[in-house]
Amino acid sequence: MPPDGPARVFERHRAIECRDLIEPDLLASLLDHCRRGSFVADHVDRLGSREVEAPQRVGVALNIVLSRPPFLHWVEVVTGCQDLHRVEGRLVQTRANGLDALDWHNDTHDDAAGARRLGITVNLSDAAYEGGGFELRKTATQEMLTRYCHDRAGSALIFDIAGDLEHRVLPLMSGGPRRVFTGWFVQALLRFRSDHRPDLQEGAACAVLLIMRVERRDRRKTLHRDRRGERQQVLSSRGVAGQCGQPARSEEMRRQ
Ligand SMILES: [Fe+2]
Repeated sequence: MPPDGPARVFERHRAIECRDLIEPDLLASLLDHCRRGSFVADHVDRLGSREVEAPQRVGVALNIVLSRPPFLHWVEVVTGCQDLHRVEGRLVQTRANGLDALDWHNDTHDDAAGARRLGITVNLSDAAYEGGGFELRKTATQEMLTRYCHDRAGSALIFDIAGDLEHRVLPLMSGGPRRVFTGWFVQALLRFRSDHRPDLQEGAACAVLLIMRVERRDRRKTLHRDRRGERQQVLSSRGVAGQCGQPARSEEMRRQ
């Protein structure tokens, strides 16, 4: 997608949807890992509650996938944010239990390094649900800038993190769970907390396996296409020859 259109959308809404951001084969693997993942309750002080994947496998895998330089560069061009270093986030889910939700906040209260420049949520839900909408508004005037409901697995929303903005996640009304990777584009390398290090190693291994699986499948498709092309060339040569009952002659043979 050329960046001009998305850049205008981001400038106006301070957010941009990335439709089908995750490649289908990789998405299928991630959804499978999500289904088999385990989650623990996570209470966010004065904001609300949700569940977090523990240990983080899908979360750290997507940290690596989303931190690829070409994608970071595209995001820089669209949003105007410079020197994006990497994505840091995790897999979370909310349920229709009357409790899970996040009140208005701006993601800067616990960002001591001031490194978070943009937020991102990637939809990894495989069950339909109602509610769970994301809202972004100007803090001072309460002017609503974006209302967004994830409705397609593998699609993402990138939104601005700034002192004049705040966002929230509404409670689920039914269905679900609402499962998303949620994280930030950071401008500097953040130190991982000690309790995240085992997850990092496990998630990195998971990401490498997922990427290798997708690349291996792509190579098989290319090989299959090449072989089919060669077979069609042979068949088409035979077709010409078949009309006179003789094998096709090569250009070199014709010259002789
Ligand atoms: Fe947030």
